[in-house]
Amino acid sequence: MAKIEFQVEHLNLYYDKFHALHDLTLDIYQNEITALIGPSGCGKSTFIKTLNRMNDLVEGCKIDGTIKLNNVDIYKDYDIIDLRKKVGMVFQKPNPFPMSVYDNIAYGPRIHGIKKKAQLDDIVEEALTKAFIWDEVKDRLKKSALALSGGQQQRLCIARALSISPEVVLMDEPTSALDPLSTLKIEDLVLELKKDYTIVMVTHNMQQAGRVSDYTAFFLNGDIVEYDRTSKIFEFPQDKRTEDYITGRFG
Ligand SMILES: Nc1ncnc2c1ncn2[C@@H]1O[C@H](COP(=O)(O)OP(=O)(O)OP(=O)(O)O)[C@@H](O)[C@H]1O
Ligand SMILES: [Mg+2]
Repeated sequence: MAKIEFQVEHLNLYYDKFHALHDLTLDIYQNEITALIGPSGCGKSTFIKTLNRMNDLVEGCKIDGTIKLNNVDIYKDYDIIDLRKKVGMVFQKPNPFPMSVYDNIAYGPRIHGIKKKAQLDDIVEEALTKAFIWDEVKDRLKKSALALSGGQQQRLCIARALSISPEVVLMDEPTSALDPLSTLKIEDLVLELKKDYTIVMVTHNMQQAGRVSDYTAFFLNGDIVEYDRTSKIFEFPQDKRTEDYITGRFG
């Protein structure tokens, strides 16, 4: 059995009076890919953001219950800077900073106090290599990241997330803005990253969840209807609503 990375217990989340997540309890496993699926508005993004406290900034957002990362409560016993260092995030729309390719990747390490050029050079090359984009950008490191294609920008953003050596990478629909070829590149990349990182990924694409993930959680109206090994969810769903969703009958 894989080690537990996140232990979520009785998690409730409210946006003012709106109860968006209902008493969620689940374990997320280390070095596995966990897919979060479900129809629009069911709470996938809300949930993934609780894992690195992105909701802290949302006015009116309240949480109860606990989330532990390697047994440490991320809401009570973690400094947010330390948490974000361990839990990186990649968003739906590629969002490189308006600066050079190199500076995008060096940004996080610099904030964490790394100043030596040789060390930064190594980090930049390693992160871009891990994100399968080094060969495409090695001759244009000083050029603006905004000049890259959408698929390249997304791999750059993944490299940026890796540059601070996180343990976990959260991805909220990382391929929904990309063409099919770029999507497959990201999927290959995610499969490769699993060796070194725990990945949690929101996707609307059932084939994608089936191709890459080890575990799948099916969300509906703020509840997790079913959470299990992906093969089980897809081949032997226990709940009729899961079956209806994955066979495309709603959502
Ligand atoms: N900042 C916010 N303030 C108030 N309500 C919010 C906020 N963010 C999300 N919600 C509500 O919480 C519910 C869950 O939204 P969430 O964005 O988590 O859904 P989702 O599953 O990610 O949907 P999608 O697939 O469309 O991205 C929705 O009803 C949404 O309107
Ligand atoms: Mg969402």
